[in-house]
Amino acid sequence: MTLQGLEKNFGEKIDNEVKIEPKDWMPDAYRKTNIRQISQHAHSEIVGMLPEGNWISRAPTLKRKAILLAKVQDEAGHGLYLYSACETLGITREETINDLHSGKAKYSSIFNYPTLTWADIGAIGWLVDGAAIINQVMLTRTSYGPYARAMVRICKEESFHQRQGFEILLVLSKGSKEQKEMCQDAINRWWWPSLMMFGPKDAESTNSDQSMKWKIKRKSNDELRQNFVDMIAEQIKTLGMKLPDDNLKWNEERNHYDFGEINWEEFWNVVKGNGPCNKQRLDARRKAWEEGEWVREAAAAYAEKRK
Ligand code: 3HC
Repeated sequence: MTLQGLEKNFGEKIDNEVKIEPKDWMPDAYRKTNIRQISQHAHSEIVGMLPEGNWISRAPTLKRKAILLAKVQDEAGHGLYLYSACETLGITREETINDLHSGKAKYSSIFNYPTLTWADIGAIGWLVDGAAIINQVMLTRTSYGPYARAMVRICKEESFHQRQGFEILLVLSKGSKEQKEMCQDAINRWWWPSLMMFGPKDAESTNSDQSMKWKIKRKSNDELRQNFVDMIAEQIKTLGMKLPDDNLKWNEERNHYDFGEINWEEFWNVVKGNGPCNKQRLDARRKAWEEGEWVREAAAAYAEKRK
């Protein structure tokens, strides 16, 4: 088939909602942008284990410890799902991981903030996983088959993550004065970075246009961000807490909440590696990779022996 024929075939599949599978012909740029997004998504899951992992040994009760352990283990599984989906596009696990360790690949800016109190674990579950769900439910319909299918399982586990986070904050919001203050403080620190998870404004989004055309993305960054604000602005009423945004106000005409301007300088600063914990996060990942060398060697030797 000529290149034109292949491109036409590919375009028809996208138009007719036929999933693109690993063995299908696809434009190099489609392959490249899926590798970029899926690998960075996987890195986010794995790096995202670090801020929460910090509280596994400090959880206030055995029950909370067990729940947090389960959540962090889920994130590891999400990362492995996504690394595997990425490999179907022809990039090896080593190459992908090296891109993270060298700083070439990104991961979500949100994980470069510190977890200062137990309430942060609640705020991460409720806000960060809540934002991730909004984005990932959309990705269950992404055009690349393995990515869409990985999202189905991930979204089921994310809703447990969000509920356990909200429940942590609900208990604190009904607790002592100090616990109420701890709850509000965590919401104040995690609100704006959670809005940044959806990426730059549509006008500054370099990948969105093409990703929408190829149905990798079904909704724009700003659309998803707005859905998230509308959801959280209602849920926070149950907590009796406030979002740190004096411009947050229901707009009857728009049928959405208006909200304040995001600090885009902070966003790009963190994306460029100058956030509060960027160095600590990458150092931890590189150390884990080095210390895990023997496990990979043993697994490879075992697989070789069994051939
Ligand atoms: N942190 C770091 N980089 C970001 C970012 C963020 N919050 N938002 C955008 N960027 C980067 C993009 O990767 C892109 O850089 P690149 O071209 O070098 O990759 C650049 O900023 C411009 O952004 P675009 O809007 O053009 O990029 P996309 O079209 O890729 O949209 C996205 C960004 C919405 C994050 C999209 O990549 C996406 O949907 N990714 C999959 C979901 C994901 O990665 N979520 C991260 C959190 S995972 C998580 O929270 C796990 C949960 O279990 C806790």
